[in-house]
Amino acid sequence: MVMMMRLLIVSVLVAAVVGVNVTYDHRAVVIDGRRRVLVSGSIHYPRSTPDMWPGLIQKSKDGGLDVIETYVFWNLHEPVRNQYDFEGRKDLVKFIKLVADADLFVHLRIGPYVCAEWNYGGFPLWLHFIPGIVLRTDNEPFKAEMKRFTAKIVNMMKGENLYASQGGPIILSQIENEYGNIDSSYGPAAKSYIKWAASMATSLDTGVPWVMCQQRDAPNPIIDTCNGFYCDGYKPNAENKPTMWTENWTGWFLSFGGAVPYRPSEDIAFAVARFYQRGGTFQNYYMYHGGTNFGRTTGGPFIATSYDYDAPLDEYGAPRQPKWGHLKDLHKAIKLCEDVLVATDPTTTSLGQNLEVSVYKTSSTCAAFLANFDTQKDATVNYNGNSYRLPAWSVSILPDCKNVVYNTAKINSVTTIRRFVATSFKDGLSDSKAISSEWSYVSEPVGISSNDAFNRPGLVEQINTTADQSDYLWYSISADIKGNEPFLHDGYQTTLHVKSLGHVLHLFINGQLVGSAIGNAGHPGFTKDISVVLKSGNNKIDLLSLTVGLQNYGAFFDKTGAGITGPVELEGLTNGSTVDLSSQRWTYQIGLEGESLGLNTGGSSLWVSGSPKIQPLTWYKTSFDAPSGDNPIAIDFTGMGKGEAWVNGQSIGRYWPSYIAPSGGCSACSYKGPYSSSKCLKNCGKPSQKLYHVPRSWLKPSGNVLVLFEEIGGDPTQISFTTQELESLCAQVSESHSLPVEAWSQDNTTRKSHTKPKPRILLECPHPNQVISLIKFASFGTPQGKCGSFSHGYCRSPNALSIIQKACIGSRTCNIEVSTAAFGDPCIGVVKSLVVEASCA
Ligand code: GAL
Repeated sequence: MVMMMRLLIVSVLVAAVVGVNVTYDHRAVVIDGRRRVLVSGSIHYPRSTPDMWPGLIQKSKDGGLDVIETYVFWNLHEPVRNQYDFEGRKDLVKFIKLVADADLFVHLRIGPYVCAEWNYGGFPLWLHFIPGIVLRTDNEPFKAEMKRFTAKIVNMMKGENLYASQGGPIILSQIENEYGNIDSSYGPAAKSYIKWAASMATSLDTGVPWVMCQQRDAPNPIIDTCNGFYCDGYKPNAENKPTMWTENWTGWFLSFGGAVPYRPSEDIAFAVARFYQRGGTFQNYYMYHGGTNFGRTTGGPFIATSYDYDAPLDEYGAPRQPKWGHLKDLHKAIKLCEDVLVATDPTTTSLGQNLEVSVYKTSSTCAAFLANFDTQKDATVNYNGNSYRLPAWSVSILPDCKNVVYNTAKINSVTTIRRFVATSFKDGLSDSKAISSEWSYVSEPVGISSNDAFNRPGLVEQINTTADQSDYLWYSISADIKGNEPFLHDGYQTTLHVKSLGHVLHLFINGQLVGSAIGNAGHPGFTKDISVVLKSGNNKIDLLSLTVGLQNYGAFFDKTGAGITGPVELEGLTNGSTVDLSSQRWTYQIGLEGESLGLNTGGSSLWVSGSPKIQPLTWYKTSFDAPSGDNPIAIDFTGMGKGEAWVNGQSIGRYWPSYIAPSGGCSACSYKGPYSSSKCLKNCGKPSQKLYHVPRSWLKPSGNVLVLFEEIGGDPTQISFTTQELESLCAQVSESHSLPVEAWSQDNTTRKSHTKPKPRILLECPHPNQVISLIKFASFGTPQGKCGSFSHGYCRSPNALSIIQKACIGSRTCNIEVSTAAFGDPCIGVVKSLVVEASCA
C-alpha cells in the first residue's frame, strides 16, 4: 500500500512538471505545437504591492491579455554584491506564480540592464566600482557579473519549475534591452558583446525562446523585436522569426518639472490593429499597469514617483476607462481572427490614397483589416462587394471578411471619471481626523555634522562619492572675509557662481538657505549665480547637492555623473575680483544626520512636539488612522516643497509638489496622426505630481506613523489624505453601431445568420458592494459633449431619463437596448444615440 502510494505520488509529481514546448516560426510563437496570437502587458512587480498583484493580474486577464511581461530589477535583488533580496515587493517567484494561477503566460525580461525609468537602469551601483569594469560591452569583469546574475535568475526560475518547458508560465525571456539604439558608441566591441550575450543566454537552457528588443543584429536563435509607438511593418532579421512588438507605449512617463503625458485610446487601438493587420502576432503594452516608483527607485534623473504611464490600469490599479475597455474589445476582435491570422501571411492591397486592406485567407476562413491611415480625411471604401465607412486614422476588423466587429476610432466602452477626494470632506466627521493635528519635528543640521565627514582638495563627483547610498552630499567650506571688502557696505552685490552636473542644489550661507538651483530631465546640470550676503570674518558656505534618480538610458549612462564639479567662485570681492574656491580644501558628508539616525521610522528621542517649525531641512512626524473603506489612498502634498515621505517606515517615494510644469504645451490633442511623447499633455502650469500613493497594505487601522523630510520649507499641516472615488460612470452608444464584438463572439447563431442584434448600453458599478444611485444625465437623440459635461442636442426623447432611472437605480448593473423601440423616435430619419452618466454609491 505504502509502495503504491509512493508510486502514485511520484507519478503525480512527474505529471505536474511535464512542460510544454515553446518554439517559434515565421508566423508566431508556437506553444505546445500551436501558433498563437498573443496579447501581452507589462506589470513591474516592485511598482505595486503583493496584495495588489492578484487584482492587477485578474484585471489584465479580464482585459484580454494572455501574457504578463516584467523586467527583473537587479539592483533591487542584489543591493550588495552576493546579498540577495526577494522579499515583499521583490518576491519575483510569488508574482510569477500568481500569474500562473490566473492561467496567463509570463515574458520574463531579465535584462539585466532594463532602462525602465528605474534607478541606474537596474544596475547595482557597486558594479561601477569593480576594477576595470566597463558596462554593457565586451568587457570581462562586466560579462562575468551579467552572466552570474542572469544565471542566478534562470536557476531560480528553474528551481521553481516556472519555465513553460517545465510546466510553468514563462514562455519567453529577454536578454539585454534596446542595445541596438546605442551600440555604435561602443565601437566593434558592441558586436562581440551582443554575440556573447546571445550565446550566454542560450547556454542557460531555459527551454523557451529568448528575444532581444531593438537589436537588428540579434544572433540566431534570438528573436529581434520592435519597441515604439507603432511597429506595423516591422520585419525580424530572419525568415523563420515571428514579428513581435515588445513595447507598445500606452502613454509616457512623467518627469518632475514636466506636464502629464497621455495617449488617446483610439490611437493605441489603431497602432495595435495596424500591427496585427500587417503580420504581427505578439504585442505587449508597456505599461499595462505602470504603478509607483516607491523609495528611491526612480531613474532619470527627475523621473516622478508616479509611474502611472496613462496605462489601461491606472497607478492605483483601477481600469482606466475607456482605454481598458476599448482595448478589451479590440483584443476580442483580434482573437476572433486568431486561427486565420496564424495560418498565413496577409495580402495587402491599396484601396486608394492612405487606404488599404489586408486579407488573411485560407480555404475555409477569411479575416480582413481595413485601414484608413490618413491623418484627417474619413473615407468610404469598397471591399468584397460591400462599402465601408472608415474614419480617418482608423482600422476596421472583419473576422469573416464581411462584418465589421470593431473600428479603432469608435469607442463603445464605458468611460469613468475617478477623483481623489480629501477624506475629511468625503463623509463628514468620521474621517476628519485621518491626520492628527499634532506634529513633531527634528531640525536637520545645516552642513557637516557627522564624524564620518572627510576633507578633500577640490570638488568631487557625487555618485562616485556617495555610491548612491543617499540622495544628499554636503560640500562645505568657509570663507574668511576681511573687514574692508566693499560688499560689506550697502549697494555691493556678491555672488556665488556654481556649476553642477545636477540634479538639485541648495545653498546655505551661515546656516540660512539663500538659494536653490534645479536641473530638469533634459538638462540635469546647471550653472547658477546666487546672490549672497557675507559678513566680516568667517562665513560658512554649505552646498547641499542632491540626486533625483540616477540616469537610466543612453550610451555610457553610468558615467554621466552628478554633483558640483565646479567651478565654484565668489564674485565681487575687493576691486571686483573673483575667488575661485574650486580647488580649495572642502569638507564632505554623505547623507543626512536624520538618515543615519533612522528618523524615517519615527524612532529616536530627538523629536520635539508642538507646532511644526516651518523651515528648510526639517523632519516632521505625525500619526494617522487609515481612511475608511478600501478605495486607494494618496497623500495630497500641496503645501510642501521637496523631500521624501515614509509611512510606517516604508518610503512612498520622493515628493516634489513645488516643481510646476511649464504653462504651455497642453493644447487640444487629436488622436489622429502619429503620436509622440510630447503630443498630448495635461496639467500644464500645475505641479507635475501632487498625489502620492500610500498602499493600503502598509497601514493598520490606527496609529500609523507618517514621517516627512522637507528640504526647502513646506508646511506639513497643509497636506491631506485623499481616497480615490468614482465620480461618474458614462456610456455612449449609437443605434447605428456596427455589430458589437461582444455579441459576435458570444453568439454563434448571430454570426451565422448575420442578423444584427440591437446595440446595448451596459453600465456596471466597479465595486461589488455598490449600486447605481443616481442618473446624472440621460439622453436619447443627438446628445453632445463627453462624460462629465454631456448636454442634450436638438433632438431628444422626453422619457429617456425616466426609462434609465427605472432600469438602473438600485442595481449594480443595467443593460439597455439602444433603439427607438425602447425610447420612441424623437426625430425620424436621424441616427440617434443614447448617452448616460451615472454615479454609484
Ligand atoms: C524603452 C525602454 C523601456 C522604457 C521605455 C520608456 O526605450 O526599453 O525600458 O525605458 O523606453 O518608458
